[in-house]
Amino acid sequence: MTEEAQIVAGDGILDTLGEHLRSAGLDGKVYVISDRQVWSHVGPTLAAGLTERGFAVRTKTIAGGEHRKTLREAETLYTWLAAERAERRDTIVALGGGVIGDLAGFVAATYLRGVALVQVPTTVLAQVDSAIGGKTAVDLPAGKNLVGAFHEARITLIDTRTLDTLPVRDLRAGWAEVLKTTLLFDPPLFERLEGYDAPDVPPDLRREVVARCATWKQQLVREDPKERGPRMLLNLGHTIGHALEAATGYTRYVHGEAVAIGLVGAAWLSATVGGLPSTEADRIETALQRSQLPVRYDEVTPEMVWEAAQADKKVSKSTMRWILLEAIGRPVIRQDVPEAAVHRVLADLQAA
Ligand SMILES: NC(=O)c1ccc[n+]([C@@H]2O[C@H](COP(=O)([O-])OP(=O)(O)OC[C@H]3O[C@@H](n4cnc5c(N)ncnc54)[C@H](O)[C@@H]3O)[C@@H](O)[C@H]2O)c1
Ligand SMILES: [Zn+2]
Repeated sequence: MTEEAQIVAGDGILDTLGEHLRSAGLDGKVYVISDRQVWSHVGPTLAAGLTERGFAVRTKTIAGGEHRKTLREAETLYTWLAAERAERRDTIVALGGGVIGDLAGFVAATYLRGVALVQVPTTVLAQVDSAIGGKTAVDLPAGKNLVGAFHEARITLIDTRTLDTLPVRDLRAGWAEVLKTTLLFDPPLFERLEGYDAPDVPPDLRREVVARCATWKQQLVREDPKERGPRMLLNLGHTIGHALEAATGYTRYVHGEAVAIGLVGAAWLSATVGGLPSTEADRIETALQRSQLPVRYDEVTPEMVWEAAQADKKVSKSTMRWILLEAIGRPVIRQDVPEAAVHRVLADLQAA
């Protein structure tokens, strides 16, 4: 990781990117990589703002979706950059959700051994999570995110107004990560949010919340860039969440939905072995339900989820590492959770 990312957050600030590029000393050409859906909503505003500030802008839009996060797609982008004669002093802007951020980020990390990257995330998940922290990746048939590089964005420009056009399923799924962050670090904010269904959160509060969650992530990344210590806390709900995604073949749940179920599992486990009052575990479940997120799983058996959890890369040696809550706002990392307790929670989490 080289320079610290600058996070700029606001509502309706998409057209200010040029100013931020100039003050960061990025004054080469700008190569915007986006997905078609995102581009149709916000691309022209971003590009007009850049052109107005005197930047030469080139754009490449691709079809969206996880199945585009591949080396083949990266190669198409390298070929485009080469044809455009992109140089080391130029900038790649990733405009979109986590898929575009990871793919364009990987291209920026590797093209000419690295060119400047600017993230302009347009999903909740990308704004509070994937566009911060410098992880870039593509998938292989053998697994997700198997090839990648750390390449911190120079600027992450978060315009929460772009969320107005985000499909509600993605909005709510990203909200699971927001609630996760508040459960870990920000009990007063959790309290302000727990009564809302995500799409009903007023724009001012949404902007404040997204900016605060983004800042939390940045702080943890700064303390622990390679995820060996405190950054692991961000995996609250993800042990079961990742296992559910894998067990269901990545088709039944989008990431944030699997995380929502995983958060309920982590809350119950916390109540069983971590000292979290069970009324607090219920509160967490209710908050997720308010945003119409799933809190039980179907399609697979507890055994299948357990198997998938064992196979997950986040399992170190033979012990499973759990992020639990002693209280809302008081996370702990535990490696001594009895298997029987996990089996019980997985069984209870299965929809009746
Ligand atoms: N690098 C990291 O640290 C990190 C962390 C978490 C997740 N990820 C990755 O993020 C990816 C998931 O990201 P995602 O959930 O943002 O999904 P996504 O990028 O696929 O976006 C979801 C959908 O929303 C559409 N969309 C995005 N913004 C929109 C907008 N403003 N208006 C209308 N439509 C919009 C997209 O076209 C897409 O169809 C996964 O590949 C995951 O591996 C990376
Ligand atoms: Zn996540």
